[in-house]
Amino acid sequence: MQYRKFGRLGWNVSDIGFGAWAIGGGWGPTDDAQSLSALDRALDLGCNFIDTAQGYGDGRSERLIGQTLRGKKRDKVYVATKIPPAAGPWPPSPYCRIDQRYSESYLTDRVERSLRDLGTDCIDLLQLHTWTRAWNKNPDALNILRKFQKHGKIRGIGISTPEDDQDALVQLIREGWLDSVQVIYNIFEQQPQGELFPAAKEHAVGVIVRCAFDESVLAGKLTEVSTFPEGDFRRRYFAGDRLERAVRRAAAVRETIGDREPDMPTAALKFALKPAAVSTVIPGIRNVAQAEANFAVSDLPAMSDSLEAELRSHAWRRYFWYAGK
Ligand SMILES: NC(=O)c1ccc[n+]([C@@H]2O[C@H](COP(=O)([O-])OP(=O)(O)OC[C@H]3O[C@@H](n4cnc5c(N)ncnc54)[C@H](OP(=O)(O)O)[C@@H]3O)[C@@H](O)[C@H]2O)c1
Repeated sequence: MQYRKFGRLGWNVSDIGFGAWAIGGGWGPTDDAQSLSALDRALDLGCNFIDTAQGYGDGRSERLIGQTLRGKKRDKVYVATKIPPAAGPWPPSPYCRIDQRYSESYLTDRVERSLRDLGTDCIDLLQLHTWTRAWNKNPDALNILRKFQKHGKIRGIGISTPEDDQDALVQLIREGWLDSVQVIYNIFEQQPQGELFPAAKEHAVGVIVRCAFDESVLAGKLTEVSTFPEGDFRRRYFAGDRLERAVRRAAAVRETIGDREPDMPTAALKFALKPAAVSTVIPGIRNVAQAEANFAVSDLPAMSDSLEAELRSHAWRRYFWYAGK
């Protein structure tokens, strides 16, 4: 396993981490015994960074991680969790008030809840689960998190980007508010290369890359007729003609890769690992086989510059009207 420096916190984190959403729920049926085996195997393989959230199965993912780490040397594994904003639109609208979505009493209760579910007395990295740039001029919630940090409840402070406006965090990075950011970066979504990665590198902010497989289509195993079980969020993510369009695009990616990488999941992870600003890539993992396949990529040679350059042409700005289809 290879390790990289996690921004100004200076941690040495495995360059592949454990994305722990699916083990909490939201991706169809989950089996705790299988999830615990996956977590154990990840630690055996040298993974020392796990990303979770209160929202992943209403604490289930955090509790499984707490159970896995019980009795183990905690300072050897970094756990990042997230607090969602109080009820309201997701991502927050520009009209949402920060003191209503992330009030001090709410955040205080929520930190206690994660401490309990993770079974620890200090959270390594506390992330706000989403944000809106409307709060940049007055990011009060971050001052509240700094208080928690001073009181030894949390070690680092991060935010996970709002999907529709990832660059919303650039200003906060530049102003020194954040120890880390969590971003979507993959062969389709390359926007962070513009501003966010350079800003994070310049200000020594740790970068956690999520959704390297674009919720599994870049793992190359979906087809136009794939179906998802009840309770799997991909039913919504790939609703309507989105599955067909995404599968078509993934096939074009596969064409470009040719025989230069062993398979699509390897290529997708290597692409996400390529920017120097990236500290760790956290594929979603829910069984031992996925843990073994994904952590093995850490020790493979990096993707060639020429293949990375060619894959840039597959960037897909889905949310922009005339580039969308
Ligand atoms: N807003 C946020 O902050 C936010 C949002 C999304 C995700 N995240 C974090 O980022 C992590 C990663 O994102 P994600 O889980 O949403 O999506 P992802 O990593 O793009 O895709 C995960 C899915 O890819 C498939 N997969 C994993 N390894 C594979 C392999 N080696 N070969 C083939 N398929 C493989 C699995 O699907 P199957 O289970 O069907 O096999 C898995 O559930 C999450 O677990 C979570 O920690 C954060």
